Amino acid sequence: MKTIILAGGVGTRLWPLSREYFPKQFIPMDGKSLFQKTCERAEKFSKEDEIWVVTNEIHQYLVRNQMEELGYTVPKEHILAEPEQKNTLPAIAWAMQQIRAEEKSATAVVFPSDHLLGNDASGQIQAAEPLAKNCLVTFGVRPTSPHTGYGYIRPGKALPPGFAVEEFREKPDEKTAAGYVKKGYLWNSGIFLLSVPVFFGELKKYQPRLAAAFGGSTVPEYGELDTISIDYGLLEPSKKVAVVPLDTEWSDLGTFAALYAIKTHDGEGNVGKAEYLAARDNYVDAPGGKRVGLIGVDNLVVVDTADALLVCDNRHTEKVKDLVGRLKKQN
Ligand code: GDD
Ligand code: MG
Repeated sequence: MKTIILAGGVGTRLWPLSREYFPKQFIPMDGKSLFQKTCERAEKFSKEDEIWVVTNEIHQYLVRNQMEELGYTVPKEHILAEPEQKNTLPAIAWAMQQIRAEEKSATAVVFPSDHLLGNDASGQIQAAEPLAKNCLVTFGVRPTSPHTGYGYIRPGKALPPGFAVEEFREKPDEKTAAGYVKKGYLWNSGIFLLSVPVFFGELKKYQPRLAAAFGGSTVPEYGELDTISIDYGLLEPSKKVAVVPLDTEWSDLGTFAALYAIKTHDGEGNVGKAEYLAARDNYVDAPGGKRVGLIGVDNLVVVDTADALLVCDNRHTEKVKDLVGRLKKQN
């Protein structure tokens, strides 16, 4: 099987830790970065020359260095460097175009590079391969909250080892999401199994301009491509989607609230090195080694880097993205 690793996002909601030039997937955590952990996961599915990484031009050297650190010698042409971000559908289509050139009926597993995933997921993903012959295969995770940053999947009739998808809805509002959680929808994990024929067949049906752009063997003019995610572009409209529930640890480390949740808390629920006085459930990250003190405050996120400081309510960490949008306009 082939592997496609998506590593072109900038992780805006983890600002100022994640920056345009050093996004979250490349930040070392416990020795290795999330991107490197994704590479190690890919090894279970693919040989080194069956792995494709789609990133952008600014990060291609980071990708190469981090792969070399792991002792990989991935062929240079397998690191696809996008001149601009067009979201996940063009990124996947580009890698699938390259894969099609090698093997017309290949199946590829697509991994985001910003997740924590239990080791036992690999066997469950592999077992779903037969489904990819007829479907775009997604992997579902049991929701724990009405999170608005995820895709929601309604499983229908059994299609072992999973289900046919009755409805796929990307990033609903909170009220809708709460209803979905009650009704037993699953979160879309962001991992997919795609076969070349089904992927390009559905792309042609629902995103004909992208299908035409990647129809030949040359790389299209990137600036002219539609900007769209696979979730909105294919999974919502397609009638050939399957879901396989994943029974493993899964976390999208997209926000400080998510990072807070997976780290070790002290007796007062605080995470990070600081002096806490009558302060609970706070998250502090001051990589520069500055001394930090918190008094009488709860649920705060404090992230201090050399040139930027963030203070945010732990319940509003989704909004860091809006803040970064504002800051960008001022530049
Ligand atoms: N090459 C490339 N180019 N990669 C990209 C681009 C791009 O333009 N945009 C995003 N990526 C990468 C990110 O680095 C990440 O690894 C992955 O693609 C997913 O993109 P996100 O931007 O993180 O998507 P999301 O978190 O908002 O939503 C997706 O993941 C959720 C689960 O975490 C969707 O698939 C949701 O439905 C899903 O629930
Ligand atoms: Mg994400």
